[in-house]
Amino acid sequence: MAIALELMLVLSALAVLGSAISDALAAELGYPAGVDVWCGKAYRASNSSFNPGGWLELPKPSSTPLLDLSIRPRTNLYLAGEEYASFIIDAPISYLTGQAFMNASFNKQDNLTSPFTTLFIDVAVVESGLDLISGQNIAVNTTGNELGVSLSGLTARVEPYDVVVTGASEDGAQFYTATTQLHFVPSRTDGGSVTKIDNLYGGLLVQDYLSNSTSWTPLFPYTFYVSWDGWLELSIDNLRVFKDKGYNIIHIVPNAGLANEAFDFDELDTFLDVMDEIELWLMFDMRWTYKNLTSVEMQVNRLKARKSMLLYYTGDEPDGQVDALNATKITYDLIKSLDPWHPVSLCLNCLNYYFEEYTSGADIIMSDPYPIAVNTSWSHQYDTTCNTTYGCCGCDDCDGDFEDVANRLDLYTQYQEILNLPQKPQWGVPQAFGNETFWARYPTPEEEVVMNMLFVNHGAKGIAMWDYPTEPDLANVTSALSKVLTVSTVSSFLLGSFYTQLESAGLPRVDVASWIVGSKMLVSVVNKNYVESPTTNVTITLPDTAASVEEVFWGSGWKVNGAQLTKLGLEALEVDLFLVELV
Ligand SMILES: *[C@@H]1O[C@H](CO)[C@@H](O)[C@H](O)[C@H]1NC(C)=O
Ligand SMILES: *[C@@H]1O[C@H](CO)[C@@H](O)[C@H](O)[C@H]1NC(C)=O
Ligand SMILES: *[C@@H]1O[C@H](CO)[C@@H](O)[C@H](O)[C@H]1NC(C)=O
Ligand SMILES: *[C@@H]1O[C@H](CO)[C@@H](O)[C@H](O)[C@H]1NC(C)=O
Ligand SMILES: *[C@@H]1O[C@H](CO)[C@@H](O)[C@H](O)[C@H]1NC(C)=O
Ligand SMILES: *[C@@H]1O[C@H](CO)[C@@H](O)[C@H](O)[C@H]1NC(C)=O
Ligand SMILES: *[C@@H]1O[C@H](CO)[C@@H](O)[C@H](O)[C@H]1NC(C)=O
Ligand SMILES: *[C@@H]1O[C@H](CO)[C@@H](O)[C@H](O)[C@H]1NC(C)=O
Ligand SMILES: *[C@@H]1O[C@H](CO)[C@@H](O)[C@H](O)[C@H]1NC(C)=O
Ligand SMILES: *[C@@H]1O[C@H](CO)[C@@H](O)[C@H](O)[C@H]1NC(C)=O
Ligand SMILES: *[C@@H]1O[C@H](CO)[C@@H](O)[C@H](O)[C@H]1NC(C)=O
Ligand SMILES: *[C@@H]1O[C@H](CO)[C@@H](O)[C@H](O)[C@H]1NC(C)=O
Repeated sequence: MAIALELMLVLSALAVLGSAISDALAAELGYPAGVDVWCGKAYRASNSSFNPGGWLELPKPSSTPLLDLSIRPRTNLYLAGEEYASFIIDAPISYLTGQAFMNASFNKQDNLTSPFTTLFIDVAVVESGLDLISGQNIAVNTTGNELGVSLSGLTARVEPYDVVVTGASEDGAQFYTATTQLHFVPSRTDGGSVTKIDNLYGGLLVQDYLSNSTSWTPLFPYTFYVSWDGWLELSIDNLRVFKDKGYNIIHIVPNAGLANEAFDFDELDTFLDVMDEIELWLMFDMRWTYKNLTSVEMQVNRLKARKSMLLYYTGDEPDGQVDALNATKITYDLIKSLDPWHPVSLCLNCLNYYFEEYTSGADIIMSDPYPIAVNTSWSHQYDTTCNTTYGCCGCDDCDGDFEDVANRLDLYTQYQEILNLPQKPQWGVPQAFGNETFWARYPTPEEEVVMNMLFVNHGAKGIAMWDYPTEPDLANVTSALSKVLTVSTVSSFLLGSFYTQLESAGLPRVDVASWIVGSKMLVSVVNKNYVESPTTNVTITLPDTAASVEEVFWGSGWKVNGAQLTKLGLEALEVDLFLVELV
């Protein structure tokens, strides 16, 4: 967040005394001692450039096809009392990760070799050998296969169960395995809430405790990072003010100025009581204290049984600040041991810096590329150039345009593919600040909506803007957008299907995404151009013939034309969100 910059200013003061990172960590990373770094890059004119390392490379593709078998539970946890769970099994043909694949299977009955198109699946609990799935099959080169299992043979506990899947060709000659963990945890006895993550579509699932509901409802979190001492704390009524604007969760930024670098917890309790009452969900931020395990333990134990508790937030730009590479994971493990019922998130700031290490300590990965009114090649803060090995310009390895937002999400998706990890949900941190440090001005409302929707179009499952209070027109426009994105008519698409990019023609730099549920398709169009094109006929190619535009949530003017959407003329930075009825 921008607060990193405050920290950097603090660091600049500290630099007189010593370096931003310890000499031991500098040595471990291969850096010269006593050099202030951001994303591993020296950024002071007095220091010269060196290679920061930690860069994840795309491996050379395999020349032969690989079968990449993987398994994960449908939701990140199941609760005692739940009788059934399910697993998602993917078996794509890949040239990046996986094991050797030959498209042949031998049949002993007739001595014929046939194509290897079916994978025979077994799933078992490692420690006991208990069969969860046996004798089922899936097609080779498919993903998202969901297979149900009974939980009756397992006892709920805090420690996860290691689970192994094996997939074999019919002749058994080709054999693949993968593992995952099943969290089958005790129910709460303290009245606290539980938040699940849907490992298929990436959304959060919550129970509406105000109606005593036991069903799991998808939640699209839409909020700001809210200043505690700068705004919220000033009046308890601010909680209702914030919720009435349409924001459904609140991310409270703690007070670095306090001795405990967190909160006056008795005072916070009075706010949490109101939040519990009105079901304003909490994203609990431990940015200043997350490396202090004593403090984390105290805070988690104090917060974990709150009804409005939604999820934790640990490292704020831990990669930018070059926190110890194991810091986020150590804290993650501690939090899970105390509270296995709520997810842990963090926000990365760097384009490509020790991604695996920092994200190993999170269930949800946020990113905050801030591209508006920023000079990404020359740092006026530090009077240096900025490039992949040097300098800090406020937006790491950015171009200072809207593409930075989409690129960041796409890259983080790709890193997880390279690492052969199941995709963790990503949330976006759109820029809603400016006129400070690296950023010459605030975004306009139009730019704000463009950034928000680019995050959504590239798969973000939640939005938390930096920061609140913001400019009145940004509060106004995001309030309107929150009322669109968080209602189930829209969120059921964002959290209930995969997004697909659609091709558009007529105008470059138009970003289009779609989500299909049943016979309806949600379409989001984002024009990244700052000039209008009143006479351009813009077309979007649909996967199939559509019947009509059924409902418009934002923007206007698209018409169905067979398997195309068309619109004559786009406004500058136009954003449209609408529902199409498919044939
Ligand atoms: C880095 O710059 C600081 C001043 O900001 C200076 O004290 C230090 O010696 C420099 N270190 C190296 C290795 O250049
Ligand atoms: C298959 O091959 C084996 C070994 O060559 C032979 O013994 C067997 O009779 C064959 N079966 C059929 C159905 O052709
Ligand atoms: C295997 O071969 C069959 C028959 O040629 C083909 O339909 C199928 O697509 C192939 N599968 C893969 C993964 O190459
Ligand atoms: C595997 O599936 C992907 C995605 O559906 C498809 O693009 C690809 O052609 C398929 N590969 C083979 C060998 O069938
Ligand atoms: C929910 O349950 C509590 C405790 O059992 C009860 O007091 C409350 O009236 C219930 N609320 C609703 C909306 O049913
Ligand atoms: C860690 O947090 C505890 C509890 O707030 C505090 O007493 C202690 O001083 C902190 N330690 C450090 C190194 O900041
Ligand atoms: C974490 O890493 C730091 C240095 O980067 C090291 O000193 C420490 O021992 C590590 N902690 C654990 C628990 O591995
Ligand atoms: C960035 O700053 C440099 C140096 O002042 C200037 O030459 C360049 O035009 C600026 N770039 C942008 C995009 O503002
Ligand atoms: C980045 O800029 C520094 C300072 O001008 C230069 O020494 C370094 O070689 C540059 N790095 C790259 C990758 O171009
Ligand atoms: C920008 O920030 C400066 C310094 O804080 C302030 O004086 C000025 O009013 C701000 N301008 C706008 C447009 O917010
Ligand atoms: C607030 O947003 C509405 C649309 O939601 C718009 O009509 C109105 O002009 C905006 N007001 C301000 C002060 O920006
Ligand atoms: C826009 O383009 C589509 C596809 O080429 C065409 O069918 C349609 O008539 C065009 N509309 C206008 C207003 O030119």
